[in-house]
Amino acid sequence: MMPAMQDSAVHLSDRHFRTIAELIEGKVGIKLPQGKRLMLEGRLHKRVRALNFSGLNEYVDNLFGAEHFDTELTHLIDVVTTNKTDFFREPQHFTFMRDVAIPALLKLHGRRNANLKIWSSASSTGMEAYTTAMVLDDMTRNGSRFQYRILGTDISTAVLRLAKTAIYTRDVLAPVPEHFVKRYFLSSRDKSRDEMRVVPELRRMTHFMRMNLMDASYPVDRDVDIIFCRNVLIYFERETQRKVIEQLCSHLRPGGYLLVGHSESMIHSAVPGLKQVQPTIFKV
Ligand SMILES: C[S@@+](CC[C@H](N)C(=O)[O-])C[C@H]1O[C@@H](n2cnc3c(N)ncnc32)[C@H](O)[C@@H]1O
Repeated sequence: MMPAMQDSAVHLSDRHFRTIAELIEGKVGIKLPQGKRLMLEGRLHKRVRALNFSGLNEYVDNLFGAEHFDTELTHLIDVVTTNKTDFFREPQHFTFMRDVAIPALLKLHGRRNANLKIWSSASSTGMEAYTTAMVLDDMTRNGSRFQYRILGTDISTAVLRLAKTAIYTRDVLAPVPEHFVKRYFLSSRDKSRDEMRVVPELRRMTHFMRMNLMDASYPVDRDVDIIFCRNVLIYFERETQRKVIEQLCSHLRPGGYLLVGHSESMIHSAVPGLKQVQPTIFKV
């Protein structure tokens, strides 16, 4: 008969869980309440086995002493971040961008061939950035005259890898209108793979880099037209939310827009000078 796995191998002690929770909240801003403990344990097992530790607590004990602390932190971040995203998620934002924000911004730019800058600041696997690219490209095909660049940033290296490849399984394209799928995605040459890739024309306009919203400063231009910061603030404490929003707004051009997730509409009260245009849309 197999001996039962020791409890300390499969479960984190209170102290070890607290160690990880404090590390993650300090570095990433994400709160890890007790309710996340089982999820964390489950997701960490693979890493613990790969490094040949006897169990989770031994892994945590060795975390800080490890010469590879940065590498381990990267893994931990990939493990604890929630990366759920979709193409055309909260679609009213993209309608607003097309019908209201871009026309208003083009007037502000005040010249033909304006160069618009859009930033997806918690981009996950890139669906928000590529949705934006499809909508903007479609506008230019319909007669709007502008150029654009899209930046996607995220703290998780795993999702950024996916975003850069721009390869998605066919099922996640369900929210993308069929004529956009035909126009903006290429089927895999290997027909056994049910995958499609964003066309090079849109990939060329879209760049991704790792960035932590908790950092004291962001290496991003200060005349961005539209910033998406959706479905990430909910994981932060109120004071962290305020700092992040304030800092993001300092990267917007006057008249620029900030878009937050549907459960994040209260953030405006924390930042003076932010005008609420719609429940989840703000303007500086
Ligand atoms: C739920 S996804 C939201 C993706 C997309 N914005 C959307 O609404 O569909 C949240 C993303 O925020 C990222 N994230 C969490 N904390 C972060 C931080 N401190 N800095 C940058 N990105 C962070 C996660 O890695 C994750 O990919």
